[in-house]
Amino acid sequence: MKIFLRLYHFIWLHKWPFILGSIPMIIAMILNNISPFFVKWLTENAQAQNFEQASFLILIFAVLLVTANFLENLGYFITDKNMVRTSNTIAHAVLTHIHDLDFAYHTNKSSGKLISLMKRGDDAFFAYYDIINRQLLNLSISFGMMIFAFTTLKATYLFSVAILVLLTALVATFLIKINIKKRQAFNEADDEVSSARVDNLVNFDTVKYFANEEFEQNRFAALLKTWNQRLQAYFFTFRYFDGLVGNLINLALVGIMYLALVDLSQGQISLPDFLLVSTFAMTLFPKMMHLLFSMRELAKKHTDLKTYLELLDEPIKVNDPEQAKALSKIDGEIEFKEVDFAYENKQAILRDFSLHIRAGEVVALVGFSGAGKSTVAKLLMRMYDPQQGEVLIDGINLKELRRVELRKFIGVVPQDPLLFNNSVYFNIAYAKHQAKRQEVLAAAKAAQVDDFVRDLSAGYDTIVGERGIKLSGGQRQRLAIARVLLEKPKIIIMDEATSSLDSASEKIIQQAFWQMVRDPKDPKTSIIIAHRLSTIMQADRIVVLDQGKIAELGTHSQLIKNKGGIYQKLWSLQRNGFIGDGESDSQK
Ligand SMILES: Nc1ncnc2c1ncn2[C@@H]1O[C@H](COP(=O)(O)OP(=O)(O)O)[C@@H](O)[C@H]1O
Ligand SMILES: [Mg+2]
Repeated sequence: MKIFLRLYHFIWLHKWPFILGSIPMIIAMILNNISPFFVKWLTENAQAQNFEQASFLILIFAVLLVTANFLENLGYFITDKNMVRTSNTIAHAVLTHIHDLDFAYHTNKSSGKLISLMKRGDDAFFAYYDIINRQLLNLSISFGMMIFAFTTLKATYLFSVAILVLLTALVATFLIKINIKKRQAFNEADDEVSSARVDNLVNFDTVKYFANEEFEQNRFAALLKTWNQRLQAYFFTFRYFDGLVGNLINLALVGIMYLALVDLSQGQISLPDFLLVSTFAMTLFPKMMHLLFSMRELAKKHTDLKTYLELLDEPIKVNDPEQAKALSKIDGEIEFKEVDFAYENKQAILRDFSLHIRAGEVVALVGFSGAGKSTVAKLLMRMYDPQQGEVLIDGINLKELRRVELRKFIGVVPQDPLLFNNSVYFNIAYAKHQAKRQEVLAAAKAAQVDDFVRDLSAGYDTIVGERGIKLSGGQRQRLAIARVLLEKPKIIIMDEATSSLDSASEKIIQQAFWQMVRDPKDPKTSIIIAHRLSTIMQADRIVVLDQGKIAELGTHSQLIKNKGGIYQKLWSLQRNGFIGDGESDSQK
């Protein structure tokens, strides 16, 4: 029921084409169902040898049919518009909702599954629309006219029709329930197959590196086997549906005709009325059969449409506040206050973590891999909410700001930047759509993107491939840095942003970075996460993160004096500037 309400909520958003299209359609359906009456009237005239009037009736019949055809086409033409627009509205709503969903959802989702689910859902919507708003409507009108015709005759006809409808509905409901179950089971298998396909497409290189083509093919074959079994089981439900329900209707058709014949032989009804009943039975029952097949289709699509629309119910864990604080400018002060955080209630990553960063300050985060450095950055971007404590910008809890607004103040160069399968230019300008070409190119130059773009076949118009696969890790990093240089946000997070660069390019990029950050007119608050300690010596303060807590805090010169401290250990470990990729103590 909920799904119907939902569907009609969307359909009603474009109500005028729906209403204006339905009117001619309903008139056409009434006209199309009028033929049994003509059979009766023609017979009456023929019996009375009144052939002139009979020809006139045929003429009227012809005019009505042509009119019906025209109105039907007109109705379809107009409601098609409503149908297509509604489908777009739903697709749009689903994408918007998916954008609204938090990081946790996106790290758990399977793109392959989602794509097949959305595709099936969209197909199901068209089928639903057609079956309910057209076929079901048509049948209701046919039924209405038959009931109207039968009221003038013996009650037995009406009574038999009522029993038939009831019986068929009962049997059909029972069968459709089984059918839906089988369909759900099949959909699950279908999602698995689709998910495996996408996984293989995305990880094509890993498959090749390990020469695991055959392994993957076998894995896929096993999934296909289940897929096949479930599809067969699903198909089978149609066989007994068609057998049972189909014959129920066939029997009813013959039964009513027989009843009418008996009545005719006993003189209880006239020949024209006998023909009226028979024609109705003969035209209506096949239609009913057709409708039942459509109901079967509807049942199949029900699951698809339901899962599709249920995407809209996926809870948003990181929400915008009802009344957000509007911020046009910030100073860039950051505070983590007694923050506890764990991913999906697993092991704690941050425990009672407190850190105050002044506006314009540059703070470096250091620690072993897995210590929680990137997690700190994600909390500041409000990709997740901490379980305890709060994160503040300029003294305002992040939860009081709209997410898009908050994120506009922050620029991130992620650990492993992924790009859109579009041009180099598009990917840089993504940070600031209104930027002039000159600005984009200047940022590209400062981030050393210019350097490698010159060697690309189409320069800035070169397409970078899915997720940026045609570029090297270092090139992708440079591109991501160019974005932030272009965006010039008030708060900057560099998450191992230069880890894949050679020392020469790193030096030049560092220069551009510090220039932007230390701009005396507009200093930026920054968090630099780095493996290479040489890159963070200039930071105002260095935070050493260990087991979810701050182990050490101070400037470079203070920390290296701290004998036995982690920072000092790391510093002596990496004579040439690298932390060995050890594990944090918490993971041992
Ligand atoms: N989306 C996630 N879901 C569950 N656990 C995660 C997720 N992201 C990171 N983790 C875990 O949290 C810990 C800290 O990760 P992270 O902050 O990325 O570490 P760092 O950046 O210091 O190397 C790691 O043990 C990692 O496995
Ligand atoms: Mg990290």
